[in-house]
Amino acid sequence: MPAKDWETRLAAVIAGWEGGERAAVEKAASLDEIERVRVSFLGRKGTLALLLRELGELPLDDKRRLGPRAQELKRSIEEAAKLRMGELTETLDQEALKPLFNDPTLPGYPPPRGGLHPLTQTIEEIAGILLSLGFEWAEGPLIETERYNFEVLNIPEHHPSRDLMDTFYLEGSEGLVLRTHTSPVQGRELEKRPPPLRIFSPGRVFRRENVDATHSAVFHQIEGLCVDEGIGFSDLKGTLEVFLKALLGPETKLRFRPSYFPFTEPSAEVDVECFVCRGAGCGLCKRTGYIEMLGSGVVHPNVLKSCGVDPERWSGFAFGMGVERIAMLRWGVQDIRAFYENDLRVLGQFAG
Ligand code: PHE
Repeated sequence: MPAKDWETRLAAVIAGWEGGERAAVEKAASLDEIERVRVSFLGRKGTLALLLRELGELPLDDKRRLGPRAQELKRSIEEAAKLRMGELTETLDQEALKPLFNDPTLPGYPPPRGGLHPLTQTIEEIAGILLSLGFEWAEGPLIETERYNFEVLNIPEHHPSRDLMDTFYLEGSEGLVLRTHTSPVQGRELEKRPPPLRIFSPGRVFRRENVDATHSAVFHQIEGLCVDEGIGFSDLKGTLEVFLKALLGPETKLRFRPSYFPFTEPSAEVDVECFVCRGAGCGLCKRTGYIEMLGSGVVHPNVLKSCGVDPERWSGFAFGMGVERIAMLRWGVQDIRAFYENDLRVLGQFAG
């Protein structure tokens, strides 16, 4: 066979490959498609296979010149086919595995379960006890007037305890502050409903504090207020005793320490005997044997008067406690910031 013919046929085969069939292999969607192209070139009657078989009949010179071109074409066809086959089998394997992941008879992954935030749990537990003692849930605004946050509570302007409170004043407002305690709810409730009344009020409060392990600029308090005829310090003592025993256990021992708040007189801070060392002195109670729990006192007559309640007829007691403090003591949390960082690895440790 004349070498010229052979060379022309090879050129046509190369044109066929480069002109479309290579692309067909590279983009093939099935193994069959690759096999079709491969067979058309290299099968028993494939165009390239025929040429290669006839190569031996060419004169030696032409064989040397043209042979490598045909071999080169054969190699690129085989390589392209192999590469695409590899890619396809990988995706096909995954397709084939898919039904396994959809097996509806397999037990499912348990969905992650949410829980109540430890502060919410603490508030709810305290609320449960106070409700059982006949106190009603009340709420007040976080943005408060200076009147309710201070004046009604017998804290006049220029009273030094205003400075102690480290108040956030709302810029550009006329006498608005972020409430520094839950006590303003006392005045709001006294004005709203005439005594006798028993209310408690949990909520957020704000102070200009530098944040550290035991301080936060935003924290929570629960306020309690009882006003009726003939209420005195003994009612305060009895109520707090029942309340703290329900919260901390029947063994709990209380200590009333004289203190000062402008809105109560007399005032007392209430400590409980340290539940770790039972009064002996340890790290938790800073060797004092006692842990401070809340502030309290007999409602100052000026508070009642400011709210239009006759102090000659009515009297009452009030108390306020820090929710974070109680939660920290209860779970042995060392850093108040753990409650606000919303790290699920931390929050997940509080059952409920
Ligand atoms: N409001 C006081 C505080 O923030 C606590 C308190 C409430 C004291 C009610 C007495 C009576 O420290």
